[in-house]
Amino acid sequence: MCSKKKKIPDQKKKIIHIPKLCSLKHNNPTCNKTTITINRPKAFNALNTDVVLALRDAYNTLAQDDRVRCLVLTGSEKAFAAGADIKEMLSMDYHTMESHDRSQSLLQMGSLSSSKPVVAAINGFTFGGGNEVAMSCDILIAGENAKFGQPEINLGIMAGAGGTQRLTTAVGKSLSMQMNLTGDPIDAQRALVAGLVSEVVPTAECLPRAQAIAARIAQKSLPVIKKIKDAVLSAEELGTEAGIKYEHQRFISCWATEDQKIGMEAFANKEKPIWKHR
Ligand code: CAA
Repeated sequence: MCSKKKKIPDQKKKIIHIPKLCSLKHNNPTCNKTTITINRPKAFNALNTDVVLALRDAYNTLAQDDRVRCLVLTGSEKAFAAGADIKEMLSMDYHTMESHDRSQSLLQMGSLSSSKPVVAAINGFTFGGGNEVAMSCDILIAGENAKFGQPEINLGIMAGAGGTQRLTTAVGKSLSMQMNLTGDPIDAQRALVAGLVSEVVPTAECLPRAQAIAARIAQKSLPVIKKIKDAVLSAEELGTEAGIKYEHQRFISCWATEDQKIGMEAFANKEKPIWKHR
């Protein structure tokens, strides 16, 4: 089904607060994008168990909501997140780290994932677990004041939620080794050149820019958005040959959606597609 351009009504933003530490700005369904804000200013948004679990729950809740097609994750202008909460980790011994219920702990940080694309709007300190959470997002937009680092070595530990893995995939072995082994951060421009982020914008424009990208994605068909995210992520796990076969299967599966017909008919009729998201 297709039709001529239809104006989307401008409706008020809803703000949903997740207990204390993480607030969710949930735009109206007609906007189809949601901003999640990590909000722990006194500790530069350090990721303690409450924040990590709130983030996991937000991803899970939003996965069920088909009105939302793209997420934005942000922190403050001073810090996206300054890492896992060191004071919380200090109270844990080896036995506790090894044996406690991971499903209810900050160790969930390593497996945070959303079935929908997440655009990260990154300003300020983005260290340790903060950088790892940023790298778990799909599109990384940095403000000019962003600083990225894996300083765990300065604490006598190493990265534990993707800092040696995703960082190496993103920036290559040499810079990843340098960042992980020296603990020294890089600035936004260096992160751009290295391929860690896709854009650098003035600090104040970082969140609006990420939201504009999310809004653009949210105009597309949800099943196709999910297939593309899944296929791009598989590039990190599969080699080129297996990856291309996998991509081809996902491509063919688009023909099992109604939106494939809608999109192609709209193009042929010079109309704007109205997605059914199925
Ligand atoms: N955990 C807990 N608290 C933190 C924190 C963290 N990661 N980062 C900052 N804070 C707290 C500080 O303890 C301080 O609290 P108080 O006011 O109660 O003392 C407050 O935030 C402000 O911090 P500073 O006084 O240190 O501020 P600064 O401007 O001098 O420095 C900073 C800012 C450079 C971010 C510095 O705080 C810092 O280096 N933080 C630690 C960064 C880090 O090592 N991150 C890695 C953590 S380990 C990890 O993430 C493991 C993993 O891979 C999962």
